Amino acid sequence: PFEVSLAVSGLTITVDPGSSILAAVEAQGVATVASCREGTCGTCETEVVSGEVDHRDSVLSPAERAESESMMICVSRSASARLVLEL
Ligand code: FES
Repeated sequence: PFEVSLAVSGLTITVDPGSSILAAVEAQGVATVASCREGTCGTCETEVVSGEVDHRDSVLSPAERAESESMMICVSRSASARLVLEL
């Protein structure tokens, strides 16, 4: 599991291995937009404030992955103990 802090709503949530960031955020009642939930459409793209992202989508280019200014929260996960997102 890893922690995700939501910079806008001020919440910190724990994401378990079997869950997605998107599902964990939705469970807290935070407004999100999502469509495919498979990492292919780009709808759930979310700005990354800090932390290391484990990108698992097929939307971002290699250069965008390296920059990690955003992530697809339906499939991508954290490679660090904590991520901070603009949500
Ligand atoms: Fe489609 Fe996340 S909902 S990429």
